[in-house]
Amino acid sequence: MSGKKRDRLDKGAIVQRDRETFAIVPHLPGGLCSPEILHKIADAAKKYNAATIKATGAQRIAIVGIKEEDLDNIWQDLGMKPAAAVGMCVRSVKFCPGTAFCRLGQQDAVGIGMKLDELYHAYELPSKFKIGVSGCTNSCSESWVKDIGLIGTKKGWKVVAGGNAASRPMIAQVVADGLTDDEALDLVKRIIERFKKYTKPMRLGKLILEVGIDALKRELGVKTKIAVSEKIDISKINEKSFFNINYGLYIVGSVKDGKSNGQIANTVFQVSDDPPTIAVSINKKNLTYENIKDSGVFSISILSEETPMPFIANFGFKSGRDTNKLEGIEYKSGITGAPIIIDNVLSFVEAKVVGEISAGFHTIFMGQIQSADVIKQGKPMSYAYYHKVKKGTEPPGAPTHRKEDLNKKTTTGDIYRCEVCGYIYDPAEGDPDGGIEPGTDFKDIPDNWECPVCGVKKSNFVKV
Ligand SMILES: Cc1cc2nc3c(=O)[nH]c(=O)nc-3n(C[C@H](O)[C@H](O)[C@H](O)COP(=O)(O)O)c2cc1C
Ligand code: SF4
Repeated sequence: MSGKKRDRLDKGAIVQRDRETFAIVPHLPGGLCSPEILHKIADAAKKYNAATIKATGAQRIAIVGIKEEDLDNIWQDLGMKPAAAVGMCVRSVKFCPGTAFCRLGQQDAVGIGMKLDELYHAYELPSKFKIGVSGCTNSCSESWVKDIGLIGTKKGWKVVAGGNAASRPMIAQVVADGLTDDEALDLVKRIIERFKKYTKPMRLGKLILEVGIDALKRELGVKTKIAVSEKIDISKINEKSFFNINYGLYIVGSVKDGKSNGQIANTVFQVSDDPPTIAVSINKKNLTYENIKDSGVFSISILSEETPMPFIANFGFKSGRDTNKLEGIEYKSGITGAPIIIDNVLSFVEAKVVGEISAGFHTIFMGQIQSADVIKQGKPMSYAYYHKVKKGTEPPGAPTHRKEDLNKKTTTGDIYRCEVCGYIYDPAEGDPDGGIEPGTDFKDIPDNWECPVCGVKKSNFVKV
């Protein structure tokens, strides 16, 4: 009985699941390999009765199921030094074909990848370390989930750092952009030297979280063309600044003469815990405004991330004056009489109005909470999720309405807008999720295509 074996770092060997045999991973920079080397690998695998040969995610070829006593001989037969497949070091430099072979390449990923491999393969660091070099923004070498990633653009190399795809995945952050080969190599050197001083056995991403990317960039001497403080213009109101304010997504319910209605609002926030008080900003033209003014009560139903877009469009792009929005939707009247929506809702509060402030076209109602409960577990929909993932918009009456910057779209044909939810169809972008290729003219879209945001038919679109 030999007992359970461990990885043999000195022999570049990883113990297998049987805790008896090993895998070795010959070093093939960037996965580039000559027929002679491939023959040697095949011959060695045969000679030493390998269980299998496996192409790995890091562009290497593993020979799996080797006996411990054969490890020295197999490396000798291969004519190679034991490779750094394990341990606290630069494990792999993965690079794509870049401008050497790929028609989409913007930069020479093979050239700089080879240099990085020569410089850093097996270089010892506080933690395992991976580098990914991609010749263009398609990032075929997964540069965004490597400790250091290089991405080729027309302007040069973008260098990103701190990514990993381990049990707690992290997306790398941009350190610098538009660099030449030499500048990129120099920056990689500075990042690696800085990481070498890290005293914890953690990945680079952890160091960046501790220090902060801006402070790290300063420490590394990364210069921007114009200092950030000089770029800030304090003489104007840039509405894009508002887009970074966080909100959730809610249905505000109210009632008048026994008739319930609800509308979407993002401007809900708790303003006090004692007595528990909530505030919401409502457009003076909305039926909901009229109802709250009349009854002095409102409810807030907190929507989950799974809420379908047609459901949001029903409450956020239609008025209860024209349609019964609650038809076919499960809800319950609260103690205030305001409707508590059940479908797609995680929890609710209902409140009695205790104050109001006029704010331009809107009124902020403050309400003392009368009842509140959790309906089901889940993730509440954030405004950012609504915009980024659901691709949602909001009508002009909403306090945080974002005007579409149509000039910025690089369109090749006519732009169309969904009359129901405001979604913009730009032929240059198409609707790949809905099977419409970029470059497709609106008139060439099949008639059964539906608005990707609110699900209405193509006939609901108008030319902008
Ligand atoms: C994402 C989103 C956020 C909105 N936020 C608000 C808001 O905070 N306040 C508001 O008055 N209207 C907001 N609206 C607009 C109203 O929901 C919309 O005008 C609705 O049609 C009013 O319905 P009603 O007339 O039945 O009350 C929002 C709409 C959407 C889609
Ligand atoms: S990242 Fe770009 S250059 Fe590299 S293989 Fe992918 S598409 Fe080609």
